[in-house]
Amino acid sequence: MTAPNPEFNAAGKQRLVRAMFAEIAPTYDRLNHVLSVNIDKRWRRFTVKKLADVIARPEAKILDLCCGTGDLTLELTKAAPNAQVIGCDFCHPMLTAGKYKFSPTMQTILVEGDALNLPFADNSFDAITIAFGLRNLENVQHGLQEIFRLLKPNGRAAILEFSRPIVPLLRPAFQFYFTKILPRIGAMVSGSQQAYTYLPASVSHFPQQTELAGMMSKAGFLQVRYHNLSAGIAALHLGEKK
Ligand SMILES: C[S@@+](CC[C@H](N)C(=O)[O-])C[C@H]1O[C@@H](n2cnc3c(N)ncnc32)[C@H](O)[C@@H]1O
Repeated sequence: MTAPNPEFNAAGKQRLVRAMFAEIAPTYDRLNHVLSVNIDKRWRRFTVKKLADVIARPEAKILDLCCGTGDLTLELTKAAPNAQVIGCDFCHPMLTAGKYKFSPTMQTILVEGDALNLPFADNSFDAITIAFGLRNLENVQHGLQEIFRLLKPNGRAAILEFSRPIVPLLRPAFQFYFTKILPRIGAMVSGSQQAYTYLPASVSHFPQQTELAGMMSKAGFLQVRYHNLSAGIAALHLGEKK
């Protein structure tokens, strides 16, 4: 398999990104939790907490973009059992790998769709989330605009993504783990030589905290703010549509 170009907004990367996730779908969850020593679960729960007021609205509609195997979709479903939750991803094998997490009694649906060209009407959702997905888009600003378009007025976007550690001493240790150890374990368990090399490379090209906040403002979001998670290894960006 050819690896996608990890550079920011690299032209033509969509097809290879989809193929890469299709290849690692069967081992994605296991590796995620092992490689992050389960911290990823805490980050997703924090994301849901920051949406608590919005997802508790009567007849709330929630969209989880680039939902992959549905871990964040599931957290949203548990936190807002009466809401309509939709998980959306363009990689069929990722959705298939996560389907078993959802019981038929849940209202949640998983749909196949491209985050850059979504089949939903303007002003449809109270909350839209995207976890570790934005970085993979071929046009990040367009992705942000699409999220803004789909949010209802008074809706909130939550973007969870790897970011830049804010503790200088932590940076070299984290870089060593992320670029030397993680790709080896990733390749061993998933069988994909590329996916876990693409991960740190794509993070290194992605805008850090303040730049991403600026891009959200440019897309129209108000009250843009972010929370550094685990000293900035990841960040949760939030923005409102008025
Ligand atoms: C790193 S995974 C994140 C999955 C999940 N959100 C999580 O927290 O574990 C990134 C996901 O984004 C999806 N993705 C990338 N580009 C996409 C696009 N343009 N439209 C829809 N899904 C996309 C991939 O198929 C993959 O499942």
